[in-house]
Amino acid sequence: MCGIVGYVGNKKATPVLIKGLLSLEYRGYDSAGIAVIEDGKLLVMKDKGRVANLQEITDSINPDATIGIAHTRWATHGKPSRENSHPHMDNSGEFAVVHNGIIENYHELREFLTEKGYKFSSQTDTEVIPNLIHYYYTNGVKTNTPFLSAVKSAVDDLRGSYAIEVVSSLYTDTMIVTRKDSPLVIGKGNGENFVASDIPAILSYSKDFYLLDDNEYAVLTADSINFFDSSLSEHSKPIKNIEWDATAAEKNGFEDYMLKEIYEQPTAIRETIGAHFHLGEKCDFPEIDITADYLKTINKIYIIACGTAMHAGLVGKNAIERLCHIPVEVDIASEFRYRNPIINEKTLCIYVSQSGETADTIAALKLARSKGAKTLAISNVIGSSITREADYTVYTHAGPEIAVASTKAYTSQVVLLVILAMYFAELLGTTEQSILDNLKASILDLPTAIETVLDQTEQVKEFANKIYTEHDMYFLGRGTDYCVAMEGSLKLKEISYIHSEAYAAGELKHGPIALIENGITVIGILTDPDLVEKSISNLQEVVSRGAKTFIITNQKLTNTSFDFIINIPETESIISPIVSIIPLQLLAYYISKNKGLDVDKPRNLAKSVTVE
Ligand code: F6R
Repeated sequence: MCGIVGYVGNKKATPVLIKGLLSLEYRGYDSAGIAVIEDGKLLVMKDKGRVANLQEITDSINPDATIGIAHTRWATHGKPSRENSHPHMDNSGEFAVVHNGIIENYHELREFLTEKGYKFSSQTDTEVIPNLIHYYYTNGVKTNTPFLSAVKSAVDDLRGSYAIEVVSSLYTDTMIVTRKDSPLVIGKGNGENFVASDIPAILSYSKDFYLLDDNEYAVLTADSINFFDSSLSEHSKPIKNIEWDATAAEKNGFEDYMLKEIYEQPTAIRETIGAHFHLGEKCDFPEIDITADYLKTINKIYIIACGTAMHAGLVGKNAIERLCHIPVEVDIASEFRYRNPIINEKTLCIYVSQSGETADTIAALKLARSKGAKTLAISNVIGSSITREADYTVYTHAGPEIAVASTKAYTSQVVLLVILAMYFAELLGTTEQSILDNLKASILDLPTAIETVLDQTEQVKEFANKIYTEHDMYFLGRGTDYCVAMEGSLKLKEISYIHSEAYAAGELKHGPIALIENGITVIGILTDPDLVEKSISNLQEVVSRGAKTFIITNQKLTNTSFDFIINIPETESIISPIVSIIPLQLLAYYISKNKGLDVDKPRNLAKSVTVE
C-alpha cells in the first residue's frame, strides 16, 4: 500500500525523505515521488519504479530544500506511471499533495473543478485535492489562517479514506497534514519534525510520536506542531514514546527480513507473554477492565481479522471454546462487515490485526460497536487505528514486522489469544486450575521449543530444494492442525507463487482427493494426539495414490511410508500451532529463495491493506 513521509527542519529534506521511503518499501509500491520547496518554488521529482530510481533523480538535482513531502504509490486509480505518481500539484503549481487512501467521490469533484476551468494531467483520484485546495484558497471565505482553512474546506468535500500531506510555495516553512481511516504519525524532533504513514519510516530520527486522529489537522514547522479539530479549534495532544528500537527494523545480518523475523519468534513470544502471567500465578491484563460479571453476560465471541491474523483467530477460537466454554465464531473482516451479523450487547468481538490499520478489520469493528457489542483489539502497533476505535486493547510485542508475509506477528497473536483465553477462564472458573497451570508451563517453554525447530532448518531446506519447481501442493490437518495447514498454504502461495490448498484431512474423500496424482506434494501436520491416527489414515490414502509427503509431527509415527518427517517438540495441543507453523514458514521461505523471488516483497501484495 502507499507510504507517506514528510520532513520540515534545518537539514536537507531530500535524503531524509529518501531514507524514509526506503524503509517503507516493504509495504509494496509501484512508483515514488518527492516535492520540496526550493528557492520559494515547488520542485516535484517523481517516477514509476523503485525508490532507487527516484534517488538517482534527486541525487542529480541535489536540492537544498529543508521542507518536503514524499510518497510511494500502490496503484488504485490509473496505471503506474510518472503522471500518476504523487506528489500532485494544482494547476497554478502553488500546492503539492501526497495522499494515501481512496477518494470515493473524485468523479464528481473532478467534474466540479473541470467546470471551474481546472485541468487534470493524471488519472488519479488524488489530483482533485491540490486543485480543490487552490479553489478554496482563491474563492473561499477569508480567514486569518487561509492555508489551513483552504485545506480544511477541500477535505470537507472528500468522501473516502485519506492521509494527506500538503505543502505550498506560498507558505515555505509550513506543512499541513490530516487523516481519516488511513494512518499518519508525527515524529517530534529538535528543530525538526517528521511525518510518516508508518512508524519505521522515521524511527531512526525520533521516538516521540503524536498519533493523529481521524478528522484532525496538524500544522508543522521546524519548531512547532499545532493540532486542530475538524472545526479548526486548536487543542493540545499527548506525546507517546515508542519503545521500538530503530535497529529492530533492520536486517541485522540476515539475508531477508522474513528469515530474521522467523528467527525472532522466540523473543517475540517471550516479550508478548511479558508480565501477563508467572508460573503459579493467575493471568493478569491490567490494561483492560474486563470483569467476571461482564464475561458472564457474554453468550458469543466473534474473532474477526484478515489473512494470517484470521488464521491466528482460528487457533484462538479453539482455546477460548475449550477453556471458557463460550461459543466462538471466526470471521473474515471483509465478509463480516457486509453480512449483517447477529451482534448485540451480549457479544464480545475480538479484532486481530498486526498493523492495526487494515481497512476491513477497522470497518468490522465500527459495525460491532454500532450494534452495542464490546470490542477488543489485538494489535502489534501502539496507537494504531484499531486500538483507538476499540473498547479494550491488548498488544503483541513482536517488534516491527517488515516482511510482507507475516511470521512473528502470527505466533505472537496466537500466544496472546491463548493467554487471553486462560485469563477469561480464570475469571469465569470454567477450567481446572491444574490444567491452566500445565498450559502456562507449556507456554513458557515455547521459545525453547521454537529454537529446537529452528535447529532443523537444514532439513527443511533440503526438502525445499526437492520440490521448489512444483506447481501445486496440498496441506492437510485436522483440528488446530487444519488451522496450521491453512496458514502454511497461505505462506507458500504468497511468497513462492505456487498454487496450494489446505483441506481438513477428513474432507479429502469428499472431493479434493480427485486432484491427487502421482508425484504431487502433500504436506501433513500431525500434532493432536486425539486426531493423529485419523489424519495418518487420510495421508496413507494420498501415499497410495503416489503423493510425495512432508510431515510435521510431535508424535512417534510407526509403520508409515511418509517421505520426509520433521519432528517437533510436543506441547499442549492448544498451543502446538505455534510450533508446527515454524517448519512451514521455513519451507515457504526456502522455496521462494530457490525460485529467486523477492521474499520480503512478493508481487501484488502490500504489508498493510488500508483500502477495501
Ligand atoms: C499474510 C499476511 C496477511 C495479513 C492480513 C492482515 O502473511 O500478512 O494475510 O495477515 O493482511 O493484516 P493485519 O494483521 O495487519 O490486519
